[in-house]
Amino acid sequence: MRFVLPKGRLLQGSLGLLQKAGISLRPPGERRLIERVGNYEVLLARAFDVPVYVEYGIDVGITGSDVLEERGSDVLVPLELPFGKCRLSLAMPGERIAEPEEMDGYRIATKYPRITRRFFEGLGVEVEILKLHGSIELAPKIGIADAIVDIVETGETLRANGLVEVTKVMDVSALLLVNRIAQKTKFEEINELVFSIKEVIRDGT
Ligand code: PRP
Repeated sequence: MRFVLPKGRLLQGSLGLLQKAGISLRPPGERRLIERVGNYEVLLARAFDVPVYVEYGIDVGITGSDVLEERGSDVLVPLELPFGKCRLSLAMPGERIAEPEEMDGYRIATKYPRITRRFFEGLGVEVEILKLHGSIELAPKIGIADAIVDIVETGETLRANGLVEVTKVMDVSALLLVNRIAQKTKFEEINELVFSIKEVIRDGT
């Protein structure tokens, strides 16, 4: 079975959960991106690319629900996982607070153009989207955007940059992703994995 795990903040939670479910995977090193452990192969990828790997052939992956929503990949999601809990929020400088309905013509910086577009379309508000790849909080701080849509976990990064949460766009959690074909061709292995993870979650261990 082949796994694709996200580099970064979800990696430790992913390895810990799989280990409790009886699958001890050694993560590949910083530079080696693939590691073989017994019958398993582990790939390390950017969180945003995990759904793509799973859609196009890797059996199982873990990434955030924000990323899956943004990518819109055609994969199965048998389980929500008990880590990576945070939210995707609209935020802006504290001294210029506005309601999302009043943001016509605003420029919004984000790593999530698709989710952001859909959010504002739902309100009938037309915004300009500025796609960035990280450190999104910089954009309104230095005046190249009016607001941001970004991940908020503790709220520390917003506070440190003088930004205030205006509204939540979506709740976020880590998800288990399964390739559609693998669900059929590796039915038993995958079901066993899902069952073991469910037990770990249920026992809360
Ligand atoms: C994420 C997110 C925020 C921060 C939120 O960034 O984009 O910047 O974490 O966490 P907090 O509410 O606990 O402060 P990440 O560290 O993943 O890096 P990035 O800036 O490259 O997106």
